Amino acid sequence: MSKRFYITTAIDYVNGAPHLGHAYEKVVADVIARARRSVGEPVFFLTGLDEHGQKVQLAAQALGQSPQAYCDGLADQWGDFVRRLSLTNDDFVRTTQPRHREVVQAILSKLHAEGHFYKASYQGYYSVKEETFLTEKDRNPDGTWDPKWGQVNELVEENWYFRMGVHQDWLVAHIEANPSFIQPDYRRNEVLGFLRSQKLEDLCITRPEARLSWGIPLPFDPGFVTYVWFDALVNYFSVPASLGDPAATGPLGAHYPARDARLEAWPADIHLVGKDILKFHAVYWPIMLKAVGAPLPKTVLVHGWWQKNGEKLSKTTGNVVDPIAVIEEWGVDAFRYYVTRELGIGPDGNWTDDGFKSRYNAELANGLGNLLNRAVNMLNKYRDGVVPKASSFLAAEAAQAVAKTRAAYLEPAPQDALVATWELVNRANLYVEQTKPFSLAKDPTKAVELDEVLYNLVETCRILAVLIWPVMPGTSEKIFAQLKVCAEPSDWNQSAWGGLQESHQVGAPVPLFPRKDLPPKK
Ligand code: ME8
Ligand code: MG
Repeated sequence: MSKRFYITTAIDYVNGAPHLGHAYEKVVADVIARARRSVGEPVFFLTGLDEHGQKVQLAAQALGQSPQAYCDGLADQWGDFVRRLSLTNDDFVRTTQPRHREVVQAILSKLHAEGHFYKASYQGYYSVKEETFLTEKDRNPDGTWDPKWGQVNELVEENWYFRMGVHQDWLVAHIEANPSFIQPDYRRNEVLGFLRSQKLEDLCITRPEARLSWGIPLPFDPGFVTYVWFDALVNYFSVPASLGDPAATGPLGAHYPARDARLEAWPADIHLVGKDILKFHAVYWPIMLKAVGAPLPKTVLVHGWWQKNGEKLSKTTGNVVDPIAVIEEWGVDAFRYYVTRELGIGPDGNWTDDGFKSRYNAELANGLGNLLNRAVNMLNKYRDGVVPKASSFLAAEAAQAVAKTRAAYLEPAPQDALVATWELVNRANLYVEQTKPFSLAKDPTKAVELDEVLYNLVETCRILAVLIWPVMPGTSEKIFAQLKVCAEPSDWNQSAWGGLQESHQVGAPVPLFPRKDLPPKK
């Protein structure tokens, strides 16, 4: 067994239906996971659901359901979502699973035994919506609370706290010494700025059971459940631990029962998360792991947020994009392509229906789709679908696109990968305009030239199928099927020039991306 490349997504709250932001994050993680597998790396890709906490308890109550029944119902919907997005996750974690709870409790027991926690009474304010304690300095100057906190309650309660003081210095040093620990750089600077200017307050890691029962019971004090974020972050670690990953089980020692090693994945290579949950992943999570004695993740990779038509996504105002509806109308590959191509990992993005249609038509239908269609069509028309003698006119440019695309996928910068791939799509379409195979076909003395053009076109299409596989696996497989290539486009080795052999018979042309902006033909 060898250590797998381990990539995770945030685990989504099950207090509603999946939206564009959720879909984007999961697709980007899947693209990175697929690209790694394509180049031959063993991968472990984890996603899942965050099922505890007050948000979920309240949402269940509102429907008159038990929290577990409520979560089970939504988990089916989210499981379906994962399939509809064509995700290749290796596991799906739900924080209500016993395998997860056992690890959370083992970590709590160990940290308690080693003196990281203390019990204290707190008097102050609490945001139910964000499940967080507020202080006077969180108030607006006029004394009101920002609407982002939702309902704010005043309370007095006893809780358990995690001592943060001893962790601040090493964390700053770690972030300074490891530039790739938090990416992009502006997020790293944000965390460093915060850690250098403010003393970290101790983290409240419990909620009294009387106020919130829907959580993991604290193993050493029965009146409390675990704070939902302490519980949720552990998912990245609990799954490998439950599969016996020695790097995860080792640090838990006697607090966690021994088991056979079925996985080597920890530490995570990439935690892909949205910008709103940066502090949890870049501050609390590494501190939790350090206290446990476990290796830290390599990279917290932070993506931006989508808006629609320049406004925040919001169920209340109806400003939403339903990823399933888009997939039903345009196909999952078009959806995966658009979100990956439109928004790199970092900045915020903006969905417009026109923007989607415009990329669909220009880049998919007229770009890649038209190229394949022309290549396969002409090969059928002029050469009965039989591949001519190999030629390498476009070989160097293809090799360059392959190298650039590969480097970008591994960076990981999937948006740049698509940009590099489309340089080859555009080059090949230009090649058709320049060589005019339809004219060559009219002149019998140009038969060798026509052979060359046809070979370069179909061979480029074959290579393009390999390059797009991480983003558009279905389309990639359709291209191989049309070319009647038996190999797998999921194997990066197939991107080497010269795969199509002379006399190989290709299939009939079938449009990859039907144009949707034209009125239906009479
Ligand atoms: O935060 N655009 O869950 P969540 C892009 N359970 N990404 C978005 C987005 C948008 N408009 N809205 C949300 C939680 N996201 C916790 C995570 S991890 C141990 C626990 C992203 O359902 C968001 O940034 O509110 C986060 O990465 C993910 O969706 C889940 O958000
Ligand atoms: Mg959220």
